[in-house]
Amino acid sequence: MTVSSTPQNNTPTNLSLSGLLCYCRSGYEANLAQELDAICALHQIFGFAKVLPNTGFVYFAFYSPETTDRINEAVRFDDLIFARQLIGVFAHIPDLDRSNRLTQIHAVCTTLLPEGFRAQTAVVESADTEDGKELAKFCRKFSVPFRQHLRAQDWLIQRKTKQALVGVTLHAFFEHGSSIHLGISLPNNRSAHENGIYRLKFPSDAPSRSTLKLEEAIHTFIPKSEHQYYFNDDVNAVDLGACPGGWTYQLVQRGVHVEAIDNGAMDDALMKTGRVDYFAADGFKYQPQYGSVNWLVCDMIEQPDRVAQLMTDWLVNGWAHHAIFNLKLPMKQRYVAMCQAKASITTQLTSANIKFTWQAKHLYHNRDEVTVCILRTS
Ligand SMILES: C[S@@+](CC[C@H](N)C(=O)[O-])C[C@H]1O[C@@H](n2cnc3c(N)ncnc32)[C@H](O)[C@@H]1O
Repeated sequence: MTVSSTPQNNTPTNLSLSGLLCYCRSGYEANLAQELDAICALHQIFGFAKVLPNTGFVYFAFYSPETTDRINEAVRFDDLIFARQLIGVFAHIPDLDRSNRLTQIHAVCTTLLPEGFRAQTAVVESADTEDGKELAKFCRKFSVPFRQHLRAQDWLIQRKTKQALVGVTLHAFFEHGSSIHLGISLPNNRSAHENGIYRLKFPSDAPSRSTLKLEEAIHTFIPKSEHQYYFNDDVNAVDLGACPGGWTYQLVQRGVHVEAIDNGAMDDALMKTGRVDYFAADGFKYQPQYGSVNWLVCDMIEQPDRVAQLMTDWLVNGWAHHAIFNLKLPMKQRYVAMCQAKASITTQLTSANIKFTWQAKHLYHNRDEVTVCILRTS
């Protein structure tokens, strides 16, 4: 068997797909399904989303097969708010023989993988739910014979990689022990993390666990190569609803000077860094004390339309250049609330001749909230 050094460039990826598989936080299946319905309808991809409450995933079944190329063009992972992962499914085996799973998987792959297909990585996954913990253990064990089998068939590259997902990746998603979805994800249109989960270590000196939300947001929305440009010693920010300081901590760690606004108390150690000015004020009335700032961040627990309007006002008034904020969504119709917020902000920023990019994600560290990042473009 030969191992090419750049096999992902050559491997055929235009498979015939029977549906789309997306992971999400348990309890968010209906929101994700609504979103997939809307995006697929927009691109005339006909099918229906199968929703099973609290399963942590949604399967959108196509009425007739679609190609990876068409789906990859129409459905973009970065556009999906509630999806943690995006996989094009080429086979669903609902009745896997538990005593000999690999035989059926082999037969399906032989029939459906195109000639010369070779994935760069392969993962065995299950939903991130309380009930799914045992299944997750099984998946970890099963991944060893699964990968060995793929390598033996030349469907997977021999080389070991540090990252879980590199290049074209083959996914085996177990719904339960005898139901599996087989699919592929492409590097430019998915989460780079196994199970779509961005695991971060909690910094022991951070004032609150909320710090992980902003850290994940920065990694998710801003390419690593641009971190230094967006966050450095010359950058300043306002943090609305800052206490006890988890978000301010992330900014200060990156050299940013922060005006922290809240009526609560800020973390002492953070105040001693000399990079934080604290103002006990109402975030809805506060105006920047030292002129406009590079960043507005906001984690206040408030109605999403009020926060959306506040962010818009800051950007339109030129008080802040970019913004990262949470829209708290305790209601059921979260997708609808997000569409309304996006429409309102987009209309007003466009009228003010502001060019910007909009990104929104229900991050792994979020609860009932979605994080939005608005970057002004020149
Ligand atoms: C979820 S906590 C923020 C946690 C913070 N991001 C962190 O990482 O530590 C929400 C904060 O918003 C503040 N808050 C809520 N409404 C506010 C308002 N109108 N003006 C200023 N702060 C407000 C609360 O006092 C609370 O500290």
